[in-house]
Amino acid sequence: MVGDETSLRAADESNREPRGGREPAIALDDVTVDFGAVRALADVSLRVEDGEFVTVIGPSGCGKTTLLRTVGGLQEPTAGTVRVAGETPERARRAGAFGFVFQHHALLPWKSALDNVVFLRRLAGKPPDRERARDLLGTLGLAGFEDARPAELSGGMAQRVAIARALHLGADVLLMDEPFGELDELTREEMGVEVRRVWRDRRKTVVFVTHSVPEAVFLADRCVVMSDAPGEVAGAFDVDLPRPRDESVYGTEPFQRQVAAVRTALHDGDGGR
Ligand SMILES: Nc1ncnc2c1ncn2[C@@H]1O[C@H](COP(=O)(O)OP(=O)(O)O)[C@@H](O)[C@H]1O
Ligand SMILES: [Mg+2]
Repeated sequence: MVGDETSLRAADESNREPRGGREPAIALDDVTVDFGAVRALADVSLRVEDGEFVTVIGPSGCGKTTLLRTVGGLQEPTAGTVRVAGETPERARRAGAFGFVFQHHALLPWKSALDNVVFLRRLAGKPPDRERARDLLGTLGLAGFEDARPAELSGGMAQRVAIARALHLGADVLLMDEPFGELDELTREEMGVEVRRVWRDRRKTVVFVTHSVPEAVFLADRCVVMSDAPGEVAGAFDVDLPRPRDESVYGTEPFQRQVAAVRTALHDGDGGR
């Protein structure tokens, strides 16, 4: 393994105890997902604790989206079990446990930023609150853009609206699938700082999928490395970087060291062990 054992530990998934004896926010046990003859996920076991920020990194096609969809109750596992705070993912989804943020923001082009944020909550059968939606947009740096249509916003701004929309749902768990994939590097870094701030202030549980190693390390409390297809969990790293974190972390030696270790694990497909 590359790097300093004291600042970078390969986290042992099998020995993770739930904090305070509570149900983990997310628990996957030996989850396999097949699409016909294609095995997308193979025996994935993973625990995410309440309030944890977990990133999942792996090569394209290794099953990251399938993993997120399985957690979110959008995809049935072929084998194994998934629990979200002790419930089935489907029940959790129906109860509004998840806010999804995808690579492309999927905002409604004819609605303003504010109406986009409000709309999804209404669709979920919850009373929308325009003032709170306005506050959320402000928190994400979009004060003054409430009435703008998506076409009038930059990619980063539109993605912020999508994050505000997911937060306004009031979901405890944010499932984010390469949400910054279409953004330039500088904007990605700014958005990373923003998302960690929102996560901390609002005490969410986040599972964030990416194929960018620096992004996976910067964002994570714990970074889960997946192997090439069929996706297995190759290993996990506890990321020991300052909290809170800002862009200055990118230039630091511990950051570079953790990036190198995750990169090695990715290439070896063995999680660094
Ligand atoms: N709905 C589906 N039907 C058939 N095959 C699928 C479906 N979704 C994903 N796959 C396949 O499962 C594998 C993993 O895909 P995916 O989870 O999208 O990977 P990633 O998000 O890591 O790029 C790929 O081989 C992909 O073609
Ligand atoms: Mg994907």
